[in-house]
Amino acid sequence: DYNYKVDSLLSIMTLEEKVGQLNQYSLGSEFTGPSSKKGQDSIRYQQLISGQVGSVLNLLGAENTRKMQKLVVEETRLGIPLLFAYDVIHGYKTMFPVPLAESSSWNLDLMQKTAAAAAAETAASGVHWTFAPMIDVTVDARWGRVMEGAGEDPFLQSEIAKARIKGFQGSDLSSNRTIAATAKHFAGYGYAESGKDYNSVNINNYILHNHILPPFKAAVEAEAASFMNSFNDINGVPATANEYLLQEILRNKWDYNGVVVSDWNSIGELVNHGVSADLKNAAKKAINAGSEIDMEGTAYVQNLVDLVNIGELKESIVDKAVRHVLQLKYELGLFDDPYKYSNIQREKEVVGHESHYQLAEEMAKESIVLLKNENELLPIKNTNNIAVIGPLANDQDTPLGNWRAQAVSNSATSLLDGLKNALPNSNIEYAEGVKLSIGPNNFFEEQLINQDDRSGFKEAIQLAKQSDLVILALGETAYMSGEARSRADIGLPGLQQELLKEIHAVNPNIVLVLMNGRPLSLSWEDENIPAIVEAWHLGQKAGDAIAATLVGDNNPSAKLTMSFPRHVGQIPIYYNHKITGRPSTAPGMVFYSHYTDVVNSPLYPFGYGLSYSEFEYGEIELSANAMNESEEITASIDIKNISNVDGKEIVQLYIQDLVAEETPMVKSLKGFKKVDIKAGETVQVEFKITKDMLSYYKSNGELTLEKGAFHVFIGPHSQVQNYEEIVLK
Ligand code: IFM
Repeated sequence: DYNYKVDSLLSIMTLEEKVGQLNQYSLGSEFTGPSSKKGQDSIRYQQLISGQVGSVLNLLGAENTRKMQKLVVEETRLGIPLLFAYDVIHGYKTMFPVPLAESSSWNLDLMQKTAAAAAAETAASGVHWTFAPMIDVTVDARWGRVMEGAGEDPFLQSEIAKARIKGFQGSDLSSNRTIAATAKHFAGYGYAESGKDYNSVNINNYILHNHILPPFKAAVEAEAASFMNSFNDINGVPATANEYLLQEILRNKWDYNGVVVSDWNSIGELVNHGVSADLKNAAKKAINAGSEIDMEGTAYVQNLVDLVNIGELKESIVDKAVRHVLQLKYELGLFDDPYKYSNIQREKEVVGHESHYQLAEEMAKESIVLLKNENELLPIKNTNNIAVIGPLANDQDTPLGNWRAQAVSNSATSLLDGLKNALPNSNIEYAEGVKLSIGPNNFFEEQLINQDDRSGFKEAIQLAKQSDLVILALGETAYMSGEARSRADIGLPGLQQELLKEIHAVNPNIVLVLMNGRPLSLSWEDENIPAIVEAWHLGQKAGDAIAATLVGDNNPSAKLTMSFPRHVGQIPIYYNHKITGRPSTAPGMVFYSHYTDVVNSPLYPFGYGLSYSEFEYGEIELSANAMNESEEITASIDIKNISNVDGKEIVQLYIQDLVAEETPMVKSLKGFKKVDIKAGETVQVEFKITKDMLSYYKSNGELTLEKGAFHVFIGPHSQVQNYEEIVLK
């Protein structure tokens, strides 16, 4: 309990010093290096040494952080140490699969481990705090940031949020192997209208309470050290100045005691949103709402002292925010030893540790989703001549993905190299086929995805013609997804589909390996290509993991956490939608909720993924057909591996509320288990159905439990038809 220490420190701080704790800058090593003239002449440097900066983002490395910490500890009146923050999204130097890929593993332990490894590397570089995990529920694949989260389901997103937070923070924040986590972006960012980044969010309160907020509530329960605002406005109020979210929900309802950081200049952007005429008013609105640290907006450092002095802001509101910042500094152990994270020797030992590379490979293998495997084309059997084609086949950079922190460019294993190692006796030849522009990879010189160079087609088609099997690696380069990388068309970018079609015309024996950061629309591919492997941006060991999967050394076990649409026009598409008044698909009927040019279902639903094993589900057995609020029902099911390959199956429990006061969803995920099932064996999987699984949030935010009938589904994906009825008495 640091309350006493925090209070006594607070009592000796000037208002300027307090406001300094709420000011965060992105600072580079020009402030610490020997030739620091540029830095030292700046206002920011003066602010740094006079206690007007409380935290710094993007300053990295044991040496740099130690120097800057020393500057602040020794030069400022009170010597309050800085917090160093950084976006460690899927690894610090060792890159793990992008979070959307990892989420497809449904393997919480493994996700906790990759977060812990990322934390160890980060902490060893002098950094205390990551702006992760992103726990925005995402239903629109046009939005580039879907790669940072865990997809469309609030329950799964919540479980993964807890695992990642535990991984980053461990059980002791003051350990020099753990870092503070951030639940972001609070809230609604994943619902940016039309999938366009930073766009307005217009949602109803049912969606807010049942889809968007549950992962954040889980983050509070997992004791995430901080929350970050989102850029968007939500139903007319910017999240950064949103008292309902930041006060009523976060502080009052959930009793959250951590610190809230703005997004980059999101306080300044209140002016752009049109709710503040100037930065001063933006500062006032944001601090009153509960945004506590101003990241790069300079709104607080320029205005809060004045606002208090002219009586427009209560100092107690500033105090409350400062308390949270100081508390985090205490929890991290910075008051005991401000330099404890900045140790050059440890940095050398921990960053890029071999065990992290092994973990990256393990995670990559569990993140690969087998989407189609006609006639058991996979795993590859004694094939002599293999053509490896495509712009991403010999690419050591794309698998590192966006938000790659300190990954070394071109340091991932490529698919081509992975295959050559895995199949030393095959004749493997490579052709690039088509160039893929690297996409908008640069801050200032955005490249649009627009190419018309077919000069590589001929060689690739010739190679395909003379080969027994074609492995085509297509998809998105690393920077085609991620922040500000929204796409209106989510098919294969550029000329890739054209190349695929031409190759298919000469040799249809194709394994399509996809590398991408979002769901793609793949209707033609699904109809025509016999085997499709979703290999995302899998990180450091991507090539080895994909090759191991293609040759059968790894049996794929991942399942999608976002629906793949048949057509971009179906977006937003998610399995847990409302029933509607006209859900019927009766033959010949016209006036029901549907399109006239594409069926309602997604191409690949949430929870879907194949294996080289084949699993047969038995009937659902219930311990009772009815329960009251204090009882539980056990639902169990036998799953048999009827193949001769050992495998893993993700068994999913969904519940549908048949009649409720507010229109229910068609079904919602309430539990899952990932089980090993040996060839020929049967495993029984059990779920306890509790009252919590039967409740939902009404639009006013109240959790409600209503008596009546429910359907309990257990199956391999969200389109499961196998159910039993239970009644809540
Ligand atoms: O953490 C990020 C956030 O997700 C997007 N804007 C910038 C922040 C800090 O880099």
